Amino acid sequence: MKATKLIFAAALLLAAACTTSKQASDGILRTQVPARPAGQEHALELTVPALDTVRIGIVGIGMRGASAVSRLSFVPGAKIVALCDVEPDRVEAGRQTLLNRGLPEPAGYSGSEDAYKALCERDDVDLVYICTDWIHHVPVALYAMEHGKNAAIEVPAATSMEDIWALIDKSEQTRKHCMMLENCCYDFYELSCLAMAQAGVFGEILHAEGAYLHYLDPYWDAYWNNWRLDFNRKHEGDVYPTHGLGPVCQVLNIHRGDRFKTLVAMDTKSVNGPLAVRKRTGEDASDFKNGDLTSTLIRTENGKTILIEHGVLTPRPYDRMYQLVGTEGYASKYPIPQICVRRGQIETAAEANHEDLDQEKILSREEIEALQKQYPNPVLTPELEALAKEVGGHGGMDFIMDYRLIYCLRNGLPLDMDVYDLAEWCCLGPLGALSIENGNRPVEVPDFTRGAWNRIQGFSYAFAE
Ligand SMILES: NC(=O)c1ccc[n+]([C@@H]2O[C@H](COP(=O)([O-])OP(=O)(O)OC[C@H]3O[C@@H](n4cnc5c(N)ncnc54)[C@H](O)[C@@H]3O)[C@@H](O)[C@H]2O)c1
Repeated sequence: MKATKLIFAAALLLAAACTTSKQASDGILRTQVPARPAGQEHALELTVPALDTVRIGIVGIGMRGASAVSRLSFVPGAKIVALCDVEPDRVEAGRQTLLNRGLPEPAGYSGSEDAYKALCERDDVDLVYICTDWIHHVPVALYAMEHGKNAAIEVPAATSMEDIWALIDKSEQTRKHCMMLENCCYDFYELSCLAMAQAGVFGEILHAEGAYLHYLDPYWDAYWNNWRLDFNRKHEGDVYPTHGLGPVCQVLNIHRGDRFKTLVAMDTKSVNGPLAVRKRTGEDASDFKNGDLTSTLIRTENGKTILIEHGVLTPRPYDRMYQLVGTEGYASKYPIPQICVRRGQIETAAEANHEDLDQEKILSREEIEALQKQYPNPVLTPELEALAKEVGGHGGMDFIMDYRLIYCLRNGLPLDMDVYDLAEWCCLGPLGALSIENGNRPVEVPDFTRGAWNRIQGFSYAFAE
């Protein structure tokens, strides 16, 4: 009897060691990397056969889904064939949007949290576009890919390492796209700085910063079933890292010649989080986990650093930081776009006035505009820019993202963002939590490509011949 108990305890310990973190003698925490099943290949530069019209089913027609219905209805070659939400009135509102534009009536699914299954099982859907709360992203995406559909998922697509690996494995097995809808990669300034960085204007980029600093107190009540504040209450780490991380990872060629190696996360104590809950429910909420501000530092294989911040609980101006620090220049976006380059800077001690802290020459608005003209981003044609500004979606960036997704699918091209981008940008949540829970120790970031991070050299967009 005793021996059975001992074997049982040993088995439990082994299972715990496999599913949680391991700590090696170097003090770095490591998570389990599931072996790639035999016969399964990486999904780098994945393509699916070109589609003349991309037939879309949208799941989750809340605030974000409703604007996706409207935006996608303007994208050439996109056709919305089905809508799904737990709440029937949200499906009806989406249907009305399409009918008001004179477009065909979509099929509607609602009434339960499983209603999306019938949408995914349809024969006439090529792309399932997922705008639910965070908990429902992954089950819908997995079911969609299992049923032969490509999946596009709102940010953050996944919030646990298990879910991240499940999406990677499903995309690799089914050879279907699994893209995260990271719209901030398509904002005009970021597009422009990416083109300048690729042309070498800033030299070698050594450090980058990004953030999601947005005071959400006025918005908490707008989310379905209070999902967003609830998630922050239950989780530590940067729970919304991808707006800050996506654009700088494209500049730094992550899994296209460089990769994340380790990260360290730190957060402040929770003050306004519990207050936000108490204000709404009267509950004590002293169990609130997310700090008012979370900072994560990443170091890459090639010796670069990235700082990512998350702060949604304290009153402050909206800010995604977006900063590039290169050997020859610098760019940042907030509160106003600033660029400087070595040329024109004070270079010698004889010229320098140590009392004057404003000597570094920031380019004027006209000079920045001239640089932007000199180094256009190939995605941003004048026609697309005009249409994006007309349709809108955070000033147009959301439309450019949708346009590129549909364009690539219609032309059988790899998408701008693959399932490994999704994994790298989402892992800050669970891995940052692991760091915080273990006294801010460094955590190894797995190579989500499982050995292929150096195969592609440099981030680029695909275009039809
Ligand atoms: N990229 C951006 O700029 C941006 C901006 C805002 C929100 N988002 C993301 O968009 C997503 C949705 O956010 P939101 O602000 O629209 O939230 P929301 O609460 O307004 O909408 C969520 C919707 O999902 C529906 N839903 C939940 N479970 C479902 C299920 N199983 N099947 C069908 N429908 C289901 C709910 O009924 C609700 O209508 C989140 O992932 C969020 O992070 C992205």
